[in-house]
Amino acid sequence: MFALALFAVSSHAYPRTRPNEVWSREQEIQHGIKLNDYPLGSAPHEVPHKWGVASVPDELNWCDMDGVSYCTRSRNQHIPQYCGSCWAHGSVSALGDRIKIARKAQGADIDLSVQHILNCGGVGSCHGGSVAGPYQWIKSKSDKGSGISYETSNPYLACSSESEEGICGNADWSCTPMNEARTCSTFPPQGKCLPIKQFPMASISAYGTISGQTAMQKEIAARGPISCGIDAAPILNYTSGIADMRGEMVDHVISVVGWGKDDTKGSYWIVRNSWGEYWGEMGYIRVAFGALKVEEQCAWAEVKDYTAPEKNNQVHCFEGGENCQ
Ligand SMILES: *[C@@H]1O[C@H](CO)[C@@H](O)[C@H](O)[C@H]1NC(C)=O
Repeated sequence: MFALALFAVSSHAYPRTRPNEVWSREQEIQHGIKLNDYPLGSAPHEVPHKWGVASVPDELNWCDMDGVSYCTRSRNQHIPQYCGSCWAHGSVSALGDRIKIARKAQGADIDLSVQHILNCGGVGSCHGGSVAGPYQWIKSKSDKGSGISYETSNPYLACSSESEEGICGNADWSCTPMNEARTCSTFPPQGKCLPIKQFPMASISAYGTISGQTAMQKEIAARGPISCGIDAAPILNYTSGIADMRGEMVDHVISVVGWGKDDTKGSYWIVRNSWGEYWGEMGYIRVAFGALKVEEQCAWAEVKDYTAPEKNNQVHCFEGGENCQ
C-alpha cells in the first residue's frame, strides 16, 4: 500500500493542464483505425538491407542534410484558438517533408491542409485523435484517385465540428465539398464561395505504425520523418537543450526529423512540435533517446503522388473556381 501511494505521487510529478490529444487503442478500434496498410514484411525496419540501412549513422537530420533542409514549415495548432489537433499536425508535417524529399528540395514547399483532415478525416477533432488515423484517411482518399488538399485551398482555422471555441461556433466544419477545397469569388450578391473539385492534392500508397528506437531510425533514414506520440506535460515550459524526463503517458503528437549525439547527454531525437516557432528551439525540441515516451507510438506514410509544376499535373482553375467544379 505504501509503495503504491508513493508511486501515485511520483506519477503526477507534472501537472496535466491540457486535455489528452491522443486516442487510446480502444478509441481507435471504435473508429475502425487499422494500424498498418502496406505489404507486411516490406518496410525498412523489416528488410533494412533492401533500403540500404543495415546500420544507421550516429547523426541524421532531414533539416540539415549536407546543408540542405528537407523540413517543411513549423505550425501552430493553437491559433486562432486552442485546438487539440497535434495528431493531424504531426502526420501532415512528416508527410510534407517526405514530399519535399521526393522533390529533392526543389521548388516552393508543398503545404498540406491540416484543416482538410479536421473537416473530413473522421479520425479525430480539436479534442484529440489518432496517430495512424490521418494516414489511413489519406490512403483511402488516395485509393479513390484523390488526396489531401493544400493549405491555399483549405487553410488551418483550428476548428472541428464539435468545437465551440473562438470562431468555431460560427461556421460549418462538416465534410462538405466546400470544406475540402474552396474559394470565394467576390462579395455577395454578385459573388459567392464555391468548392474547388479538382484541387491540388497529395496522395500516399501505404502507411504503417512502428515503435522502438531501431525501427524508428531505420524508417527515418530510409524514407524521412515520421509522426510519434510524446508526453507533453513535462515540456510545456521547455526552452532549449536536451529533454530527458522519463515521461508517463503519450498525450500529444509531434514529428521526428532525425537524431543527434551529445558528448554528455548521449543520443537524442530531433523533434518538430506544432506550438509555433516561439516555443523551444524555433519550434523544435531535442529529446533524449528513451525519454518522454517518444518511441512508443509512431506512424509513417509512403508518398504516392502530388500536384506540382514539374509533374505537369495541375488542373488550371479560374480565380472563382468556376471551371473546376
Ligand atoms: C510553467 O511555468 C508557469 C509559469 O511560471 C507555471 O505556472 C507552470 O506551473 C509551469 N508548468 C509546468 C508544467 O512546469
